[in-house]
Amino acid sequence: MPYDASPVIVASNLSRYFRVRLDGENLKDRIKRFIKPQYRVVKALDGVSFSISQGESVGYIGLNGAGKSTTIKLLCGVLVPTAGTVTVNGLEPYRHRTATARRIGLMMGQRTQLLWDLPVHESFNLLGKIYDIKPDVFKANVKRLQDVLDIGPLWHTPARMLSLGQKTRCDLALTFLHDPSVVFLDEPTIGLDVLARERIRDFINEEKRRGVTIFLASHDLDDLEIVADRVMLIHHGKLLFDGTQDQLRQLAGGPLVNLEETVKRFYREAELG
Ligand SMILES: Nc1ncnc2c1ncn2[C@@H]1O[C@H](COP(=O)(O)OP(=O)(O)OP(=O)(O)O)[C@@H](O)[C@H]1O
Ligand SMILES: [Mg+2]
Repeated sequence: MPYDASPVIVASNLSRYFRVRLDGENLKDRIKRFIKPQYRVVKALDGVSFSISQGESVGYIGLNGAGKSTTIKLLCGVLVPTAGTVTVNGLEPYRHRTATARRIGLMMGQRTQLLWDLPVHESFNLLGKIYDIKPDVFKANVKRLQDVLDIGPLWHTPARMLSLGQKTRCDLALTFLHDPSVVFLDEPTIGLDVLARERIRDFINEEKRRGVTIFLASHDLDDLEIVADRVMLIHHGKLLFDGTQDQLRQLAGGPLVNLEETVKRFYREAELG
């Protein structure tokens, strides 16, 4: 779909540091640091800049601890930047959390928004009320999401009885329920098999056609087939690459089989350059 030229997400020199208390190697150390705490600073995100247009889909790829979830939390307003700025739909997320929440969707793969002991439809009803979705819009959206994600048959099942794949599909539907214009997906395919992953890819493609901006964070290169347009590679809080998948393959010198290897190649190239 043609992109709207106006950027919907703009990060400029975005940084987030954490101060982490040091533990100590042995008992003596621990007692010493208990009395006189010592800290080190973790640069989870370190001066990252990018701009994403409405309708674009981005794969935000990096190894464990690279800074992916921290970035998503900054873009959703869960965290306040240590330095730099970020705007989503023209607003700074952490200053305008309610207005931002109405226009974005967030799915964290390791967590669920489903009410654990209640039938699936109760979670949708509750979220519909929280977002104040008009009844006719709610009905139409539920119908569309039920069809495309095949969750109609799960409607009356308590969430705790769902398989991982079923739970993921319900969580995805909840994420898109209020017609968000931007959706952040943090490791949405974690633990899923190939078929379940394909189903999610088809769903995301459909949402892309509807003009939704997709920002998908993952440490799994296979997830790039879900978001075909653009890849951003992050490592130790810094952006190593921002471009198309083809460009990434060219720079990495071949097919992308393994993320560790891809990251290493980038470092080698940088050293040689
Ligand atoms: N609340 C916190 N306090 C201290 N350190 C943190 C906090 N949150 C994240 N970090 C650190 O910041 C770095 C980036 O973490 P982040 O969760 O963003 O990585 P990630 O790319 O999402 O990794 P993963 O693939 O494991 O989910 C890590 O070193 C992590 O330990
Ligand atoms: Mg993470």
